[in-house]
Amino acid sequence: MAKKILIINGPNLNMLGTREPGIYGTASLDDIKAQCVDVGRSQNLDVDFRQSNHEGDLIEWIQKSPGEFAGIIINPAAYSHTSIGLADALSAVNLPVIEVHISNIFARETFRHHSYVSPVVSGVICGLGPAGYTHALNAIGELI
Ligand code: DQA
Repeated sequence: MAKKILIINGPNLNMLGTREPGIYGTASLDDIKAQCVDVGRSQNLDVDFRQSNHEGDLIEWIQKSPGEFAGIIINPAAYSHTSIGLADALSAVNLPVIEVHISNIFARETFRHHSYVSPVVSGVICGLGPAGYTHALNAIGELI
């Protein structure tokens, strides 16, 4: 049976496609979801792809993930730089987690250089554009 992977997207990522295309590109979140579902299928991984603008939604999805999901891929978006609650939730579940950023957060404003999430995840992919998600899927297949 295919293992399930939860892909979580944080605030404003529903705006991809029109949001600052010079930074994030022109792919929509639905385009990225379709790529992830395809790559997942080729890896025998069942992808559940979600987005919310609400920190509590992201935390509750993480809390409920053990038992159902074998691993988590998360783009916490702006909450990367602000949310101890999100980092605590990821620490509380014993699952492999890969953090993804579409842009290179280290080449941008200094407030983006720190992520509360990075110290509690298995690995980080950043700056590779939307392809970061499918790279993360290939990588998580090896971790689970
Ligand atoms: C982002 C980078 C964050 O700094 C920003 O707040 C985002 C998107 C990225 O994917 O590059 O919303 O996580």
